[in-house]
Amino acid sequence: MRSFTPLILSLLGVTAAASSAADTDSATTNVISLTTDTFDDFVKEHELVLAEFFAPWCGHCKALAPKYEDAATELKDKNIPLVKVDCTVEEELCRTYEVDGYPTLKVFRGPESHTPYGGARQTDSIVSYMTKQSMPAVSSVSEETLEEFKTLDKIVIVGYVGSDDKTSNKSFTSFAEANRDNFMFAASNDAALAKAEGAKQPSIVLYKDFDEKKDVYDGKFDEESIMQWVKTASTPLVGELGPETYAKYMSAGIPLAYIFAETKEERDQFTEDFRPIAAKHRGEINIVTLDAKLFGAHTSNLNLEPEIFPAFAIQDTTKNSKYPYDQSKKIDAKEVGKFIKDVIDGKVEPSIKSEPIPETQEGPVTVVVGRSYQELVIDNDKDVLLEFYAPWCGHCKSLAPKYDELAALYADVPEFKEKVVIAKIDATANDVPDSITGFPTIKLYPAGKKDEPVEYEGSRTVEDLITFIKENGKYQIDGLAEGAKPEQGGDVTAPASASEKATETPAPSEEGHDEL
Ligand SMILES: *[C@@H]1O[C@H](CO)[C@@H](O)[C@H](O)[C@H]1NC(C)=O
Repeated sequence: MRSFTPLILSLLGVTAAASSAADTDSATTNVISLTTDTFDDFVKEHELVLAEFFAPWCGHCKALAPKYEDAATELKDKNIPLVKVDCTVEEELCRTYEVDGYPTLKVFRGPESHTPYGGARQTDSIVSYMTKQSMPAVSSVSEETLEEFKTLDKIVIVGYVGSDDKTSNKSFTSFAEANRDNFMFAASNDAALAKAEGAKQPSIVLYKDFDEKKDVYDGKFDEESIMQWVKTASTPLVGELGPETYAKYMSAGIPLAYIFAETKEERDQFTEDFRPIAAKHRGEINIVTLDAKLFGAHTSNLNLEPEIFPAFAIQDTTKNSKYPYDQSKKIDAKEVGKFIKDVIDGKVEPSIKSEPIPETQEGPVTVVVGRSYQELVIDNDKDVLLEFYAPWCGHCKSLAPKYDELAALYADVPEFKEKVVIAKIDATANDVPDSITGFPTIKLYPAGKKDEPVEYEGSRTVEDLITFIKENGKYQIDGLAEGAKPEQGGDVTAPASASEKATETPAPSEEGHDEL
């Protein structure tokens, strides 16, 4: 374990004067441009470097530029240089480092050792990530350095372990090594210091600059239990949702409650008002505020009306069900608190976005919408093949005539019609319980086994789909058995091309709205 005292000095900028003197063009930019000739020497001379490989025409690179600049300015004081390489000029260099998209960010510890940058492309995230990279996974703290260490990041984690307790030391150290990108860790074996911090040995204390300021863990010292505790303890009672925190909340495994408000004052007030509710339901639900001016478009994903703020909704992130709060009502913490409890207790029906149920089914393909999904797909004793499509998806359009042809094979034969249904749903206009990542997605819900749908992975030809239904359906119906062969045999047996299997992912959201 390295002692962290000298590091703290450099982190706190004691060496800043020396490093800024070396820079000449700092008046205009703190990001250093490097070329094939200068790159290797530069990363040899600096212990830790963050490099951006970019192309001048790349939109994401342009969006990153001001944030990268700000991060470079902040990190300059900590002696961590941020550099950039124009890959349209330095082609050879970019090939050497296997740059295959722009921007690519890599952390260098010398020319031989580089790892992908693993944080968000935001100033704060870059600063925090690189600061953590500059420290050992576990720093050593003493009575003299503990207070200073606590101030180094929003959250720091300190293990208090007896000097002869090798088992706990090992668990804590490997936990720290696995999570060093996300948190700063320190350890101490000073029993008196542990006592002064209200902790026994072994235990772990998470210090944070919000809520109750610290949490003590003295449960089992295995990585999984520690992780579970850190997840809860590091999440603010009422947090703020933005591009940096979105992924964390979506993968937390518990529902997320959104409070949309347009002004900072309102959001601060809601944060205060909802804290006791969040404390009561800690570990059951996460609560966040979000800036309705920037992220108002997110209301449509939660089945809320746009532009009526403040607004409140809960999303069950594992089932993707949505519980919008009545927008004619005021967002009152006490009333909303009851709603939150009812949702957690399963007393509220999720809202389902749905097109109107069609009065008649026109073609051979059955049209399913959000409100008829349960009846037409799940609550029946038929083998149901369902295509999830999007109106803008080109692969879906080219599938359409073949899908109609397939559907007709079953719809036109009375004894088949009883047992097999070929259906489709516009998954952009209707809520479905399935998590769909690309279009088209095709699944078979076999009779009697509706909770185990089988996803179709083959090429999108009529013949292969017929075989799929026959092999995976309860009734093993062969759509071609009645002699009703599809007309264009040649097309049907053509080998699968890449585009017949490809799916499309949703188009980026409209310009002008920030994406979460
Ligand atoms: C944990 O073990 C390492 C390696 O043996 C040692 O350097 C360190 O001081 C120990 N940490 C504590 C808190 O005892």
